[in-house]
Amino acid sequence: VVSSGVEVTMPAVPPLPRHVAIIMDGNGRWAAERGLPRAEGHRRGAEAVRRVVRAARELGLPALTLYAFSAQNWGRPRGEVAHLMRLLAAFVADERAELLARGIRLVTIGDLGSLPRFVRAPLAALEVASAGNRAMTLCLALSYGAREALTAAARALATEAAAGRLRPGDVTEQALAARLGTGALPPLDLLIRTSGEQRLSNFLLWEAAYAELCFTPVLWPDFDRATFEAALASYAGRERRFGLLADPRVAGARG
Ligand code: IPE
Ligand code: IPE
Ligand code: MG
Repeated sequence: VVSSGVEVTMPAVPPLPRHVAIIMDGNGRWAAERGLPRAEGHRRGAEAVRRVVRAARELGLPALTLYAFSAQNWGRPRGEVAHLMRLLAAFVADERAELLARGIRLVTIGDLGSLPRFVRAPLAALEVASAGNRAMTLCLALSYGAREALTAAARALATEAAAGRLRPGDVTEQALAARLGTGALPPLDLLIRTSGEQRLSNFLLWEAAYAELCFTPVLWPDFDRATFEAALASYAGRERRFGLLADPRVAGARG
């Protein structure tokens, strides 16, 4: 059901993943290939972010998580970090109206407190303003690291146990997952990484347990709707077993 007048175009092959996460990598190499400064790669990368959010909404994806800045990325040169923060603030300012008009809810994971105020304040305001939106959830991973998130969740459980509010037996998978920040999102079905690298780089380690992985050589600034739909088509053709046996209907169909 579309409430905001956006035309929904289904991809050629269902099923559609409920939650897609993307490691947006390759901005620096895109720039280097053209003899441009890395900053220009990041600027073009931000344009790709706008494209992919629009495409996800039009395709009817329930949730999209984007790895925009890792906890480890703070170690990059000061000028590059500052440029990325300015791009992030510009994204929030420029996209605010469209995200709200299209019924998109913005949420974040990561250590938001470490972001400069000129990024944190408008982000937090948009999270509040969009909280009631239901058409799609856009989750931005900012100053995010999965080990950091798992450590924080373990610490939260320990604090509650020490206060007597929780017994060791209450520390279940559900209890831990609920303290990861992604607890309210649908299960992660598809994880895409661009630029040809085949590693997780501290992204969604827990959530990716049974996600389908898709690696594309396309550098992030070149990521377009066709690349996105190719990844979705690849997902649609996979057989997910979750440790069980193959579905006999699928096995039969494959001869
Ligand atoms: C991804 O592109 C953007 C961020 C990590 C913020 P990179 O900046 O990592 O680009 P490469 O990997 O150097 O090409
Ligand atoms: C992962 O990319 C982080 C983001 C895309 C935000 P990196 O470029 O930082 O990861 P490594 O250094 O290749 O592992
Ligand atoms: Mg990189």
